[in-house]
Amino acid sequence: MSFSHKILDWYHAHKRELPWRETRDPYKIWLSEIMLQQTRVAQGMPYYHRFLEAFPTVHDLAQAPEEMVLKLWQGLGYYSRARNLHATAKMVVEQFDGEFPRTYEEIKSLKGVGDYTASAIASFCFDVPEPVVDGNVYRVLARYFGVDLPINSPSGTKYFKELAREVMDADQIRDYNQGIMEFGAIQCAPKKPYCLLCPLNEGCVALKDNKVDSLPVKTNKTKARIRHFNYMVYLNDQNQTIMEQRKGKGIWQNLYQFPLLESENEIHPDAFQQHFTSEMALEPFESFHLFNTEPIVHKLSHQHLHTKFWILKTSHKLENGTAWDEITKFPVPVLIADFIRTLKI
Ligand code: ADE
Repeated sequence: MSFSHKILDWYHAHKRELPWRETRDPYKIWLSEIMLQQTRVAQGMPYYHRFLEAFPTVHDLAQAPEEMVLKLWQGLGYYSRARNLHATAKMVVEQFDGEFPRTYEEIKSLKGVGDYTASAIASFCFDVPEPVVDGNVYRVLARYFGVDLPINSPSGTKYFKELAREVMDADQIRDYNQGIMEFGAIQCAPKKPYCLLCPLNEGCVALKDNKVDSLPVKTNKTKARIRHFNYMVYLNDQNQTIMEQRKGKGIWQNLYQFPLLESENEIHPDAFQQHFTSEMALEPFESFHLFNTEPIVHKLSHQHLHTKFWILKTSHKLENGTAWDEITKFPVPVLIADFIRTLKI
């Protein structure tokens, strides 16, 4: 039996029932695929349902205020995905009359839609014979065919896409693409795969050569940049605080936060006043304490944010102050949502 037939047989016997596998609606498939980039199925599922409840059609999403989209996205991370999602919904409505395009090339022209997502939408919705290559597929192909080209190098990416095209089943592309991803997620898992019980173990080069643990190969990632964030959490007698919207490009664009002062190094309480008061064009305060003496380290893909929350007590009326009870309505990074949930005022 061929590689693709073994994948298909395994898939039909073992697949999980997932809501986006019950539909061919490109809006729903697109939504699920954008959400599932960098997010596990179990974590993404409630977001998928909440989004569809709030925005049943692409028209509803296109018309929604950006803040509502960001609020519903809160916790999934990589907020540029949510902004692109919103922009793409508008693009589908304005340029494609509310109908998702049906060809791989047109789908790929949508904002935030790369090769993987375009292949997924085209094959799952319209049976276009395009192979999907995500992290799971890289792993299955690298191990089964014994390929040690780095999956994150230009030559590796090209090689794997061609290999994926050679071995796919073009006549059953929807199930084959879902199947190879599912096989990678469940059977050919990153750690401790069940090779003894694997239906592909006979032809697997990695198993024969004892390379299961070393494939696929990834070249060294660049080291994460360390940044020191100090959030100024004002609190006055009326339980008001100050929230600001992040401007400009970069992480967390348009999300809300407490006024942020970034420092070169970690700031300790004895150096706080001298470090900040002179440069702060903020509100005065009468006393301060640290919420967390050890920095909370929030890891993003390319940066580690060493974060301290400084509680600044003041008796002043705060210009542009917001009631503490209202701030859960703002879309904020998870780092700040966790803090708000934990602080008892
Ligand atoms: N991860 C990314 N896309 C997926 C899909 N369609 N089904 C299950 N997991 C996925």
